[in-house]
Amino acid sequence: MKLFFFFLIRCSSITLLASSLDIVLYIYISFLVAFDFMAETRAVLLKELLKHQGHGSLKKLFVFGDSYADTGNCKKSVSGSWKPPYGITFPGKPAGRFSDGRVLTDYVASYLGIESPIANYNWRKSVKRPQAMNGMNFAYGGTGVFNTLVNEPNMTTQVKFFQQLLEEKIYSRQDLINSSIALVSLAGNDYGTYVFQNGNLQDLPTFTKSIISQLVVNLKSIQNLGVQKIVVTAMEPMGCLPRLAVFSSYKNCNESWNSVSMFHNQILQQELQNLNNASNNSVFVTLDLYSAFMSALKRQANNSGNSEVRSSLEPCCVGVSDKYSCGSVDEKGEKKYKVCKSPELSMYWDNIHPTQSGWNAVFSALKSSSLPKLY
Ligand SMILES: *[C@@H]1O[C@H](CO)[C@@H](O)[C@H](O)[C@H]1NC(C)=O
Ligand SMILES: *[C@@H]1O[C@H](CO)[C@@H](O)[C@H](O)[C@H]1NC(C)=O
Ligand SMILES: *[C@@H]1O[C@H](CO)[C@@H](O)[C@H](O)[C@H]1NC(C)=O
Ligand SMILES: *[C@@H]1O[C@H](CO)[C@@H](O)[C@H](O)[C@H]1NC(C)=O
Ligand SMILES: *[C@@H]1O[C@H](CO)[C@@H](O)[C@H](O)[C@H]1NC(C)=O
Ligand SMILES: *[C@@H]1O[C@H](CO)[C@@H](O)[C@H](O)[C@H]1NC(C)=O
Repeated sequence: MKLFFFFLIRCSSITLLASSLDIVLYIYISFLVAFDFMAETRAVLLKELLKHQGHGSLKKLFVFGDSYADTGNCKKSVSGSWKPPYGITFPGKPAGRFSDGRVLTDYVASYLGIESPIANYNWRKSVKRPQAMNGMNFAYGGTGVFNTLVNEPNMTTQVKFFQQLLEEKIYSRQDLINSSIALVSLAGNDYGTYVFQNGNLQDLPTFTKSIISQLVVNLKSIQNLGVQKIVVTAMEPMGCLPRLAVFSSYKNCNESWNSVSMFHNQILQQELQNLNNASNNSVFVTLDLYSAFMSALKRQANNSGNSEVRSSLEPCCVGVSDKYSCGSVDEKGEKKYKVCKSPELSMYWDNIHPTQSGWNAVFSALKSSSLPKLY
């Protein structure tokens, strides 16, 4: 499938080139790239196939949010996602994903039968401005609906970037109405920032409500631009993130933080129901990351027998001491982290992010629950 899409993309650029040259040259190129030419035929066949499977036409995926969805938007100079050992499983070197490999966006894209959408950052800096026919990813690691500790665009600004593309006529409103899906990831950076600034969980329910109302504002903006299907992540069990589980030597999840996630999800669910009710059709779909993480953790726990990672809550890549984290190097450029031998046996890659295998397990759980509602 992977190889196939590579050809699909190359093929469309060749077709573009040919349309600006004469037909003889086009035929000549077609012969030269006979294999690609075949691929184009296959692309048409694939579209038909997807239609017959009830998937409709090929979709465009637009992505907003944080590191669970980012595929390369954060600044190379500051973001750990661009440093080894990130990306060792896929694509084989650091490429801006906060994992050893694929992340949520990649799995959602493959479910829709499309290539993972291009990162907005890569698209902007490329002179040729590629077609971006799979949509675009506006998610930035470390961000939230409000400004956080990282100096990257919050969700409101990400939606503005999206709106600019419509103003620049890269996409038309009708494009979006016909064939787009949005994925919105909110995994807890607003909470992290709140605790960093306030030192405790006091007044957290009030803060949860303000997060959700800001999220609703952003979701409505996306909908008003024409997107007819908007997939929103429910909060994962924050207390099971290694960052918090470390205090129990990875034996238990922090139940206080899991309650925060559950309260968040309850308010979120109510608000999405209201939004769906107001628009008559089910525009908004929740991706229940809470249950999906829980079932993935159970599945990975089964692996821990074979793994040097002792518990499903223990991350694969950690700093050698509290001062360091996954990807840290000292002034001399020496590695200050260690990586487990088999990332595929771990649920978590670092203190916050699942491994590719973890995301795969999360996605399997989602497929049997929330995802079918996309169609
Ligand atoms: C988002 O970021 C912009 C630019 O920093 C800021 O003006 C705006 O207030 C932020 N929005 C929210 C909801 O925090
Ligand atoms: C959108 O769909 C309608 C009806 O199926 C079709 O006529 C129209 O050409 C499509 N527009 C775009 C921009 O895809
Ligand atoms: C769980 O998190 C809360 C809030 O950060 C903290 O006060 C509590 O000590 C933690 N519990 C455990 C068992 O680590
Ligand atoms: C849906 O909206 C209608 C009218 O706006 C309202 O009467 C009804 O109670 C709402 N249903 C739910 C389940 O919120
Ligand atoms: C919802 O449906 C009702 C009746 O089918 C219609 O009168 C109303 O305009 C619709 N509202 C929206 C927002 O589409
Ligand atoms: C755990 O492993 C056992 C034996 O390999 C298998 O039978 C069982 O289904 C697994 N459970 C889960 C939750 O994957």
